[in-house]
Amino acid sequence: MNYCVVGLQWGDEGKGKVVDVLARDCDIVVRYNGGANAGHTVVIDQTRFALHLLPSGVLREGIICVIANAVVVDPEVLISEIDGLTSKGIDVCNRLLVSENAHMVLDYHKLEDRLREQALGRHKIGTTARGIGPCYADKAGRTYAIRMSDLRDLDNLREKLAVVVEFKNKLFTAVYGAEPIGLDGLFEKCKYYASRLANLLTDTTEFLHRSIKEGKSVLFEGAQGSLLDLDHGTFPFVTSSNCSLLGMPAGSGVPGKLVDVSVGVCKAYMTRVGAGPFPTELDNEVGQYIRQKGQEYGTTTGRPRRCGWFDAVAVRYAVTINAIDQIAMMHLDTLTGQDQIEVCKAYRIGPDLIEFFPSNIDRLRLVQPIYHSLPGWREDISSACRFEQLPTNAQRYIEYIEGLLGRPIRMIGVGPSRDQLILR
Ligand code: IMP
Repeated sequence: MNYCVVGLQWGDEGKGKVVDVLARDCDIVVRYNGGANAGHTVVIDQTRFALHLLPSGVLREGIICVIANAVVVDPEVLISEIDGLTSKGIDVCNRLLVSENAHMVLDYHKLEDRLREQALGRHKIGTTARGIGPCYADKAGRTYAIRMSDLRDLDNLREKLAVVVEFKNKLFTAVYGAEPIGLDGLFEKCKYYASRLANLLTDTTEFLHRSIKEGKSVLFEGAQGSLLDLDHGTFPFVTSSNCSLLGMPAGSGVPGKLVDVSVGVCKAYMTRVGAGPFPTELDNEVGQYIRQKGQEYGTTTGRPRRCGWFDAVAVRYAVTINAIDQIAMMHLDTLTGQDQIEVCKAYRIGPDLIEFFPSNIDRLRLVQPIYHSLPGWREDISSACRFEQLPTNAQRYIEYIEGLLGRPIRMIGVGPSRDQLILR
């Protein structure tokens, strides 16, 4: 079986935990998009692991982890995650493969990200400032792109960097009025990255096809969520990669038809970090309750997340474009204690009923959510192991959303720990 796990909202759905559970039955876990803007959190034996670049599957011993072509790799973050896990007794280097064709996020990308956001003022996107957008822009532009394979030939890399630094310094000084960056310091860092990472580089596409042919089971792990997809999300308030399942074939080199089961992950409510329209946002004490109870603060930036009621129009759109087979719904326990819970079942724009999510934000900004109200529950559900152990109202909530999405909810998260997951 090959799986693909993707987020159905604006990221932070709890994919890390779902991947961690499914990875039990897999040989290989693959990251195919994004970079260190992502943040996966898994709690094992009360130890919290926050990963940004390494696939979440890395926490399962013996699993081979692949960082595929379309990931933008920040070598500094990668090295620090490898070292962090090693210090906790988890050895990674002998089972980590990094695509030689992946592009590298360097210091000037992060600086460019920050300078651009500062210059945008109130129009800013609210990026994580991890250099993701500038790195993907250099990749698409080609002229100033640096790939992981460049770490293999340091003389050539120095020449390439000299050209990049000259161009970026013109941009930094003339456009943003910032200080220029130096070539020597940057090159010294790259020499260190080469000493640590060059032996992990390989043709990951060849490796994945060979492994699938040998009957190995592969899990593809999408970072962020479908509503942040560059082409299908709420542009321009999106990230710079295709984080829906649609990005998996291009990002990994493995066609989507080789995926047997697609699992969509959502939370029992909506969250969003950064700017952009959010039809069911709760800018009130219920939103604060969810933020506090669900610990809704960014794994990467620590920013408070915006919270709102479950939006079945948005999630159904994500289910459709990803051809999702089954759903994992996380954080059900966060809603415990609410008397009434609202679910957005459709939108209205003026007199028109809208059932297909308008990803174009000019239309999305006009929508009025239509809610269905359900009774809440007060019982503690954090130790429920079976669906039948959930309070009746919690079961009804799940079943009502299943009806709206047209897909089964097969996993239900009832707490942060690895084992607080109901499998149906
Ligand atoms: P960037 O990917 O850092 O350029 O940020 C673009 C937008 O995507 C911002 O609104 C970020 O908050 C959001 N974003 C990026 N990565 C994540 C993530 O892993 N979870 C949630 N939001 C994210």
